[in-house]
Amino acid sequence: TDSHLRHVDSMALLPSGAGAIQHLNAVILGEALASEENDLVFPSPGFSSQALISSPEKYGEMYRRSIEDPAGFWSDIASEFYWKQKWGEQVCSENFDVRKGPVSIEWFKGGVTNICYNCLDRNIEAGFGDKVAMYWEGNEPGFDDKLTYNELLDKVCQLANYLISVGVKKGDAVVIYLPMLMELPIAMLACSRIGAVHSVVFAGFSAESIAQRITDCKPKVVITCNAVKRGAKVIKLKEIVDAALTECAQNGCPVDVCLTYDNKLAMDRESTVWKDGRDIWWQDVVPKFPTKCEVEWVDAEDPLFLLYTSGSTGKPKGVLHTTGGYMVYTATTFKYAFDYKQSDIYWCTADCGWITGHSYVTYGPMLNAASVLIFEGAPTYPDSGRCWDIVDKYKVSIFYTAPTLVRSLMRDGDQYVKRYSRKSLRVLGSVGEPINPSAWRWFYNVVGDSRCPISDTWWQTETGGFLITPLPGAWPQKPGSATYPFFGVQPAIVDEKGNEIEGECSGYLCIKRSWPGAFRTLYGDHERYETTYFKAFPGYYFSGDGCSRDKDGYYWLTGRVDDVINVSGHRIGTAEVESALVSHPQCAEAAVVGVEHEVKGQGIYAFVTLVEGVPYSEELRKSLVAVVRSQIGAFAAPDKIHWAPGLPKTRSGKIMRRILRKIASRQYDELGDTSTLAEPQVVQQLIDLADV
Ligand code: PRX
Repeated sequence: TDSHLRHVDSMALLPSGAGAIQHLNAVILGEALASEENDLVFPSPGFSSQALISSPEKYGEMYRRSIEDPAGFWSDIASEFYWKQKWGEQVCSENFDVRKGPVSIEWFKGGVTNICYNCLDRNIEAGFGDKVAMYWEGNEPGFDDKLTYNELLDKVCQLANYLISVGVKKGDAVVIYLPMLMELPIAMLACSRIGAVHSVVFAGFSAESIAQRITDCKPKVVITCNAVKRGAKVIKLKEIVDAALTECAQNGCPVDVCLTYDNKLAMDRESTVWKDGRDIWWQDVVPKFPTKCEVEWVDAEDPLFLLYTSGSTGKPKGVLHTTGGYMVYTATTFKYAFDYKQSDIYWCTADCGWITGHSYVTYGPMLNAASVLIFEGAPTYPDSGRCWDIVDKYKVSIFYTAPTLVRSLMRDGDQYVKRYSRKSLRVLGSVGEPINPSAWRWFYNVVGDSRCPISDTWWQTETGGFLITPLPGAWPQKPGSATYPFFGVQPAIVDEKGNEIEGECSGYLCIKRSWPGAFRTLYGDHERYETTYFKAFPGYYFSGDGCSRDKDGYYWLTGRVDDVINVSGHRIGTAEVESALVSHPQCAEAAVVGVEHEVKGQGIYAFVTLVEGVPYSEELRKSLVAVVRSQIGAFAAPDKIHWAPGLPKTRSGKIMRRILRKIASRQYDELGDTSTLAEPQVVQQLIDLADV
């Protein structure tokens, strides 16, 4: 039997426990402040009674079916979408076990569909044509726009027709490097309409990072814009793309077309760098194309998009998602985890450059015909009340963000929040890193006025959608816990040897069976896919996260256990930062570790040794930080450079990161055994230089 099923059964008993009744009474009496003493935070009876999943029993029933009959469970849901042709006999076929052959995952194979059609045409046919699909709020207050589902379809078709006209065909890659303009989801949908594979690159990545991704997936077309304003700063995106394209052309990977959106609010056309013959203004060509474009019908297992993410080695991994399973999974997780209703106004603060913006700004919400808010700017511009100003302006009811923003707003003070009513809010969400209980409570008590459940969704670029998440209204929450697995997800906590541990425990978080939204491979490197995710614990998908499960079966994520740092919810590989640092001519060696950071969750702490004879200086520190900015992007800039005459290494030359982590967090009395070091004295040197 499945261990989680047993937890589910015992959870059904939860609300009848003595402590629980006390909490329930507190809720009814309006005293439901989530405080240090309150371990469980119950949804209000009013919330639960209207919720899609209104009790642990209801969840238990659906969860049980999803595990015992995954094919039946997911087929029923998939049937709500439009399929040109239904999938074959086998709903899912998978091999998770490398010992039995190549890892493979397939869902709805043989089914023929199109995700753009399901986001737009299908919803329009169902009567949502005049419903607002996207609200757009610009960087400057007072600048806004919106598109209905009908209008969005027209725009998507025009761009799709343009892409066809320049030769983009089914299966071709298109790289998109855009800020949060409506044109970003439009570009994604235009690609999926014609079966092209989009690869969105977050518009904070450097030219080098773009070039690396272009070289890997060889797109015909790159879509960008001239510039964007974020807060008070203008960022000239086209210049960055230009540098990337020049590099790609020199390396034998030329790009034919660079479609450039003219973002007039940030910059004028005349001062934009330009290459005739390759570059073309979006506004000059796209609006001339017809607003109707036939859909390219694709197999459920045809690729939908590539998204590069950091791993523990230097080279980013091209995570590949396919069409059918991803569609069904993102739509379903969105609906249940946010208790979505057609009257909701939904705002996710993530950028479409990350997976959250793919699954929960674009596809998941639009598959549900939701009204989605797209925000171009910075959440603290012009001041720290901007988010709540926007919430009131659009009557946002579901607000999904990252703990780093919660902590930063919390630090700025309650007055910015209290200035606004926020009474439209109904459900809050958190993603990207563990949310610490004090930030959870502030989010719950101050932002949500102790009224809105928080969906702390645990998932990854690789998983496509939520794997462990609260279902608001179904069961009480515990601040800081992602609670329970979503339908069809079987988590397993394993020990170092790969043995599954039952009951209350901690260990490595793995998943036992596939779910429809799982990634299918790493682009061009299936072997790395198997090695990274399926070889550590054969028979399981290994997430790279540590986790514990408490006596009530709640899951608590504890962070990465590999060499990946999570900075403000962004995954950064230590090896990537190290290779950027050592490319500096005066840097001999670098070792990067994560260190606790009050706002960002983790900060980047870099130990560097210098080339013989080079003195350390403030100027050199700056140029080391600059090299990381220019090779990866500003978001990966180290918070601290620690000059080191030598690094602690074993006699075989391996850097002892365990010791570096302790030094970085100034836990000098927890250094542990240093006797195996080749040169034990370097430890004291490092401590002495810590604040130089
Ligand atoms: O460590 C986990 C953390 O973010 C990692 C995935 O990062 P990425 O692929 O960039 O996707 C971020 C958005 C899904 C995970 O391995 N993580 C994400 N959500 C949570 C989390 N850690 C704890 N709690 C979460 N809710």
